Formats: sequence, structure tokens, C-alpha cells
Amino acid sequence: MANYVTGLFNFFDDGESNTSSKIVLVTGGAGFIGSNFIRFLLKKYPDYKIINFDKLTYAGNLNNLVTIEENPHYVFVRGDVANVKDVKNVFEEFNPHFVVHFAAESHVDRSILNPDIFLQTNILGTQNLLNHAREHQIEKFVQISTDEVYGSIGKGESCHEESPLCPNNPYAASKASADFLIRVAHQTYGQRVNIVRSCNNYGTYQFPEKLIPVMIYNSLINEELPVYGDGRNIREWIHVEDNCRAIDLVLHNGRSGEIYNVGTGEEWENVKLAEFLLKQFPESKSHIQFVLDRQGHDFRYSVKTDKIKKELGWKPQIDFKEGIEQTILWYKSHLDWIEQINSGEYMQYFKETYESRLTESN
Ligand SMILES: NC(=O)c1ccc[n+]([C@@H]2O[C@H](COP(=O)([O-])OP(=O)(O)OC[C@H]3O[C@@H](n4cnc5c(N)ncnc54)[C@H](O)[C@@H]3O)[C@@H](O)[C@H]2O)c1
Repeated sequence: MANYVTGLFNFFDDGESNTSSKIVLVTGGAGFIGSNFIRFLLKKYPDYKIINFDKLTYAGNLNNLVTIEENPHYVFVRGDVANVKDVKNVFEEFNPHFVVHFAAESHVDRSILNPDIFLQTNILGTQNLLNHAREHQIEKFVQISTDEVYGSIGKGESCHEESPLCPNNPYAASKASADFLIRVAHQTYGQRVNIVRSCNNYGTYQFPEKLIPVMIYNSLINEELPVYGDGRNIREWIHVEDNCRAIDLVLHNGRSGEIYNVGTGEEWENVKLAEFLLKQFPESKSHIQFVLDRQGHDFRYSVKTDKIKKELGWKPQIDFKEGIEQTILWYKSHLDWIEQINSGEYMQYFKETYESRLTESN
């Protein structure tokens, strides 16, 4: 399926290459965190060249990258990480130094409805990339993983990088499987790899099926704010830019073969978070609506972050309440971005998912 969309000619012929310049293959760069990471890289490393390799599933949106699409150091390639030919072509064409692998099916509810595509993309896709990365002897492969691989934990507990993996839903199981394949690439083949496991991200360009954008958008349009179960489940939140800073440090300075947790300790019960977000919209006529709980809904995740702090000097810089304020302002000024998404497949999915949950919980 691979086809080039933007920037190819300039990408090779700008005459600015030097030895510190790196070519970075970013998979899933049209999604939420990937698009933020591409903007971050282009700003911090103006010499670097970035290939955004993305299948453009329902979650991939090139509108996330309009601010940099003319940058001569950026090129978009449409392709599927699980397709051998697509991945072979992109490695042969661009010969990257680094791979930062964000591409994934990423929504837990969708994984419960249809696990197969999660295994295809998240597990087989990762192995496919690793095979080509090995063949091309790339300098570093960074796997973007999640705190969900550790599974649900009680209050007062926190997982460190060597804690056992106990995923409880198909999404988390597929990410945990991919993490094991990364480990194998290092242990068996000596590939230079890292794994980054972060808590929940929020910020600009997050697809409006995830908790914070759903709450913001529904408050803006006076719709109900759906909260699963009794709303007591706890999640830890990080601003996407703090996560991008962490990934950058791991890419450049992380010890090969190591896993790094990324978190903030900013924990919120889902219902408290919904109440807090709703308060930011005093004019809104929205209210919280409890809906049928997610099957196998994990109670709480929490990660210890001493390792990345001590080894790489990372710490979060964006205060949660300030980050939320900025995020709300961004969504308010980008309603057209959401409305373009909502006009299509996603709206149908949203209606089916939440309307059936409401019916079942009443
Ligand atoms: N969002 C979070 O809070 C969070 C937290 C921890 C870890 N992560 C991980 O970070 C990564 C990015 O998450 P996100 O929230 O930006 O996801 P997202 O759903 O917004 O974006 C995923 C991107 O991957 C692309 N993609 C999907 N299948 C593909 C395939 N087969 N080949 C090529 N591209 C494909 C999509 O088109 C989309 O652009 C994921 O690996 C996810 O597991 C996310």
C-alpha cells in the first residue's frame, strides 16, 4: 500500500546534510503522540530528517501535521508496519539511523471488540520492523510502550521496570508481547533497543475517543460526559510534550536494552477528573453520565520513574492544571479539526459504543 505523499524531492536534495544529522523513521506519526513527537524533533534538531510512516487508520490524521508539512526535512510515507513490502521499501529508500515506533492500534475498547487487528499491527508489525532494523543495522530502535502492560495494581503500589507484566485486555497484551519481542531482539541478536512505558498522555491533537478530549469536546457541545462504572478507576496523566522530552532522551542517551518508565504521579479518579474538566466550562449544560463499565477494566496503573530521572535527568515540566488549561484552549480554537474527524467513521463508532452502554446500564 505504500505511496509517497509529500516532500520527497526536497528531502534528499537540500544540500544541508552533516555528520550530526540523523534520519529518523517515525512510525504512527500521524497519530496523537507521534505527530507531537515529529514537531518536537524538527524543532529541536533542525538538521534531522524525519520520515513519517503511517497507514492512516481511523486514528491517523495528516491534519495533525499541517504546521510542518512543508518542512523540507519531513516526508510522509503511507504504509503498514505489518506489511513486509511496505517496510522493506521504506528502509531501502531512506536508510534510517533511528526508528521510533509509535504505530499501534491504541484503543482498549476497540481491542475488546476486535482483538485481531491489535495482534496484527502491534505484535507482527513490531517484529516486521525489527527484522528490517536488524538487516539495516540501525543505531537505535525505540519501542513506545505503555504502563498498561504491568496490569492493574492497588492503591499505594507502583511498578518499576522489572515488575512482572500482567496485561488484562487485548490491547495491553499485544503491547506486552511486542515488548518481549524487543527484548528478544536485544538478547538474541544484539540489536540496540529501548522501551519507553508511559502513563496516559493528554495534550493537543489527541483523537476524540480518548477520555480527556471526549470530556472537553462534550462539555463544549453540551453533551453528556460518559464515565465508566462507578468512575473510581484511577489513571496517571502526563502532558504529551513531557513524554516527547522523555522519548528524545531515551533515543539519544538511553542504555541499549533498557526499559524506562515515564510518569508524573498526577493521579486522578476518572469521575474526579470528569468533574474537574466540567468545572472549566461554567457555561456548559453537560453533566456526568455513568455508563456500563468496560469489561476487565483495570483499577489503577502507576509507574516508578526513578530510573529515567537518575540516569537521563528527565523530569516532567508541565503542571497538570496548566497543561489542561492549554489543552482546553487548543481544542476550543481547533473545533474544525474535531468536526472533520467526527463527520466520519468515528462518529458512527462513538454512537454505537456509548448508546449501547447507556441502554445496558439503565
Ligand atoms: N495515548 C496514550 O495515552 C498512550 C500512553 C502510553 C503509550 N501509548 C502508546 O503510544 C503510541 C501512540 O499512541 P497514540 O495515542 O498516539 O495513538 P493513536 O491511535 O493516536 O495513533 C496511532 C497511529 O498509528 C497509525 N497506525 C495504526 N496501525 C498502523 C499500521 N498497521 N501501520 C502503520 N501505521 C499504523 C495510525 O494511523 C495512527 O496514526 C502507541 O504505541 C500507544 O500504545 C499511548
